[in-house]
Amino acid sequence: MVVGKTFDLIVRSPGRINLIGEHIDYNGGHVLPAAIKQNIIIGFKKRKGTICYISSKAKGSFKFNLDKPLKPKSNNDWSNYILGVIHGILKLRPKQLNAFDCKIESNLPIGSGISSSAALECGIVFGLNKLFALNLSNIEQIKIAQKAEHDFVGTKCGIMDQFAVMMGEEKKFILLNCETLEYKLIDAEINPFKIILINTNVEHNLAASQYNFRRKECEEAMRVIRLKHPDFYNLAEVPIEVIKTFENELDGLVFKRATYVAEEEKRTKDASKFMQNGELIKFGELMYASHEGLSTKYDVSCPELDFLVNYSKKYDSVIGARMMGGGFGGCTINLIHEDFVNYFTNSITKAYKNHFDLELSILKTEISKGVSLIKSF
Ligand code: GLA
Repeated sequence: MVVGKTFDLIVRSPGRINLIGEHIDYNGGHVLPAAIKQNIIIGFKKRKGTICYISSKAKGSFKFNLDKPLKPKSNNDWSNYILGVIHGILKLRPKQLNAFDCKIESNLPIGSGISSSAALECGIVFGLNKLFALNLSNIEQIKIAQKAEHDFVGTKCGIMDQFAVMMGEEKKFILLNCETLEYKLIDAEINPFKIILINTNVEHNLAASQYNFRRKECEEAMRVIRLKHPDFYNLAEVPIEVIKTFENELDGLVFKRATYVAEEEKRTKDASKFMQNGELIKFGELMYASHEGLSTKYDVSCPELDFLVNYSKKYDSVIGARMMGGGFGGCTINLIHEDFVNYFTNSITKAYKNHFDLELSILKTEISKGVSLIKSF
C-alpha cells in the first residue's frame, strides 16, 4: 500500500467521465467532462544519484537514468506514459529534476475509457512539480501530459482528459472550449439520477489506430473546407449548414465525420444549457443522440457498446446512455433513476452475459476534485 512516512508526498489522481462532446476536443469543440472518485494513488520520494525507480502494483517496475536521453519503449509499454512526462518536464525545466522513487496504485480499470492514462500522466507531473518545486502552471502540466501521450504513447489525443483530471472540482462538470481552453464550471445537479458507468470489458485493438485516423479524416475535411472558407480555423466551429454544402466535394466517409462533429458540437452546447436549467430529460435525449452519431457517422462504437445503449433505451428510468471516451470498447455512461439502479444493472448484466457470454462491470461514480496532494511529510 502507498502509505505515510515512507514517502515525501502522496498524490491522488482521478479518472474522468465525459457527459457529452465526444471526439470533438481535437476539433476545437466543446466538451463536458468531470473528474471522478475512482483514482490512482502515487507516492513519491527523493533519492540520491540519477536513477529513478518506478513501481506499480498492477504493471511491475522499471528504472531509468535522468542523465541519459529518454526514448519511448516499443510494444505500448506502460512506462511510456511516465517517460513521456519526464521528457516533457526536462524540456521545460532542464536540470531541475533530481532522482526519485515512485510507487503507483490504481483502482481505475485500464482501457475502459475513463482515462487511466491521463490520471497517470497528470499524477506524475503534478507530484514532481511539488516534489522539486518546479513552478509549472496547471496549463503547462496539462500540456506536458498531453504531449507525453502524443510523442511517447503515439495517440494524438485532444486535451479533454488531461484538463479534466487536472482541473476537476467536486460536484462540478467542466464545460471546456478546447480551442481557447476557457471553461465554465456547471453544478452537477442531477438528482434523482445517478451516473453509472457500465464497462463492456472489451477493448478492440482498433482503438489506437482508428483514433489517429479519425483525426486525419477531420483534418482532411478542414483542408477542403478552408479552400473556400479560410476564416474557419477548426472543424467544430463550422456550422452544419456549411458542412452540408460540401457533400459532393468531400470523400463520403470524411463528409460523415464532419457532419458528426458539427452535430456533436451543437448537442454539447445545447446539453450544457439543459443541464444548467435542470432539464435532465432533454439532456439525456442528447446523450442518446450523441451515441447514435458516434455509432453510425463517426464509426467508433462496437457491437457491445451498441447493445448496452439499445438495451437502456427500453427503460424510461435510464434517461440517457452513450459510449464514452475513444470507443471500440470500454464503458457506457448512463443517467439512471436512483430507485432503478439495482434492478437495471442486474438485468443488463444478465442480458449482456446471454448475448455475448461476457461479464459486465458496473461502476457507480461521483464527481470529485482533480489531482491533489493527499499528504506531504
Ligand atoms: C480519448 C482522448 C480524448 C478524446 C476522447 C474522445 O479519451 O484522449 O482526447 O478525444 O478520446 O472524446
